[in-house]
Amino acid sequence: MSRPAFLELLDAEAVFRRADVYQLAYDEDRAAKASVRLAIIGAGGVAQAKYLPAIGRLRSRWEPVELVGLVTADAQQADRLRRGWSVPVFADARRMLDEARPDAVIVSTPDGLHAEHVIASLEAGAHVLVEKPIARRLTDARRMLDAAHAAQRLCITVCNKRYSPPYAQARWLVDQGRIGRPALLSGKFTLGYDYVDLLEVGTVHLFDLVRYLAGDVAAVAAVAAPSRRNDRYRFENVALTLTFGSGAVGSLVTSSTATSFHPWERMELFGEGAWLAVDDQRAVTLYPGDDAPAERWEQVVPHTLLSAEEWGGFVGLLEDFLDAVRGQELRRTRPDDGYRAYELVVATQLSALRAAAVDLPLDAAAADAELRDRTERKA
Ligand SMILES: NC(=O)c1ccc[n+]([C@@H]2O[C@H](COP(=O)([O-])OP(=O)(O)OC[C@H]3O[C@@H](n4cnc5c(N)ncnc54)[C@H](O)[C@@H]3O)[C@@H](O)[C@H]2O)c1
Repeated sequence: MSRPAFLELLDAEAVFRRADVYQLAYDEDRAAKASVRLAIIGAGGVAQAKYLPAIGRLRSRWEPVELVGLVTADAQQADRLRRGWSVPVFADARRMLDEARPDAVIVSTPDGLHAEHVIASLEAGAHVLVEKPIARRLTDARRMLDAAHAAQRLCITVCNKRYSPPYAQARWLVDQGRIGRPALLSGKFTLGYDYVDLLEVGTVHLFDLVRYLAGDVAAVAAVAAPSRRNDRYRFENVALTLTFGSGAVGSLVTSSTATSFHPWERMELFGEGAWLAVDDQRAVTLYPGDDAPAERWEQVVPHTLLSAEEWGGFVGLLEDFLDAVRGQELRRTRPDDGYRAYELVVATQLSALRAAAVDLPLDAAAADAELRDRTERKA
């Protein structure tokens, strides 16, 4: 990548000089790509709020992607989707796979159903983009990666924030050597509500970003406050330290009791005499050294030009997935990233429950069994 990420989403020439504000002009190169038959298993909240708009945005820019099937278990939702989209809507994933024969599937069912729907899709010959967290057990996540390997198909996990301009920009600055070798990381994520699991549903994004910016983690040591308001989840506030494979170290705090309003997410990455900060998935500040002024990038493109699903990274992620289905290299993620991010969730829980540091990688079966055992004993 040679272009600063903040500029990647905007074709200024089209917007300001060709009067093509929404970048709808015929794009010969994009239109010439092979068409991809795409389906969504789990056409609920995130599918309707993020993926359907992202598909629309890409199609408006001549991306050859055909929506061939939606699956939902909710009859009322199915009726509404049938009326709003001229796409076959199914109640059963296997029936959709048999009848619609998609090349690629987005799996956005509830977390505990991911393994079933991912493996069925892979066995039907489709490539898969599965929502995060990849699963609710490491062994399920491992089965998905093994099934992808056996079927010779892609299975990648949603990591939309990597494709969001501020985090893409931070990674670009690291790749350009602007902070030197990353040596120390500090991060926080406040979810602000507890109807979903803090670590599994929220903090897993932060774990993925930590790996995106500072590489593989070798050990985790966590302390955690048990959930007081919702007994379906283990922890409501967690603080942890990380030791990276590179020798860098870091610390994270994450909370479901703190507010989810600004400031809710911050990442600081220190190198050698220089550092950068990403605030609220909105702005990046580079502090290049003692004798140089800070450089700051923040969103200056009005929302009328840049859609929320582009800013959130869903358009970039989907575009990358579709190109990978066509045989190109993935630009910002690898197939095991979702597994590694979830492994950090499990390691954090184990460390807090053991009151001891946990080394990675984990043995998936042993980690699942220990977590189940310790949680049952706690209950
Ligand atoms: N990347 C993000 O920022 C982000 C944001 C929100 C949710 N998510 C993830 O997306 C996934 C879905 O979350 P959501 O909020 O859209 O949930 P949701 O409950 O709104 O939607 C789930 C969908 O799955 C369908 N479904 C349930 N059981 C099914 C079955 N057996 N067969 C077929 N369809 C079935 C439901 O009918 C519904 O359409 C979860 O993994 C969640 O963690 C990710």
